[in-house]
Amino acid sequence: MIKLSYDIDDYRGQILELATNGDTIIELGSHVGGTSNLILDNIDCKLIAIDNSPEAVSIMEKLDKLTFISGDVRLHETLLKVFRITQECDILAIDLGGGYHPDTVFKVFYIWSSTFKPKHTLIRNRGLIEFFNMLDNKNFKNEGYLESYHDSGIPPLIKEFELWTPSIK
Ligand SMILES: C[S@@+](CC[C@H](N)C(=O)[O-])C[C@H]1O[C@@H](n2cnc3c(N)ncnc32)[C@H](O)[C@@H]1O
Repeated sequence: MIKLSYDIDDYRGQILELATNGDTIIELGSHVGGTSNLILDNIDCKLIAIDNSPEAVSIMEKLDKLTFISGDVRLHETLLKVFRITQECDILAIDLGGGYHPDTVFKVFYIWSSTFKPKHTLIRNRGLIEFFNMLDNKNFKNEGYLESYHDSGIPPLIKEFELWTPSIK
């Protein structure tokens, strides 16, 4: 099952609803462990949390019931580090920021889910929800762009193309 959310409480609720004791959970974008701690308080699981924020390191490394990896989830080397720890995943939880570029979030989802084949993936991202809703005839809208990005101009992280497709250089 794949579930989308934007509200952080919905995201956390979906994880707790689907996770069961004994699960292996991979959490991409743990920050300082708001969701990680909730998972550990409620589920007896193997939790691997990843974040690239410097401020997450000292806080996350103090949590002894999980494995924390400081790294960029877009990079193959980060994927490989986790793959060396586990080849199993019951729950893949992705929160790179609710307003993060949906294309990047989708690509991260694609790479990690096709590697670990989780039973369930929970993604927190506004743009992906909006895109999904636009495909639903009930919510058909006239514009051919995502409302959440309509005032952003050229996306500031367009440099990401370099990361994903070196051939574009
Ligand atoms: C909204 S916060 C996550 C909040 C967390 N899920 C919680 O429940 O408290 C988004 C996190 O994603 C992380 N992030 C964004 N892009 C990332 C990337 N490419 N690799 C690793 N972490 C990333 C940020 O550092 C940030 O800590």
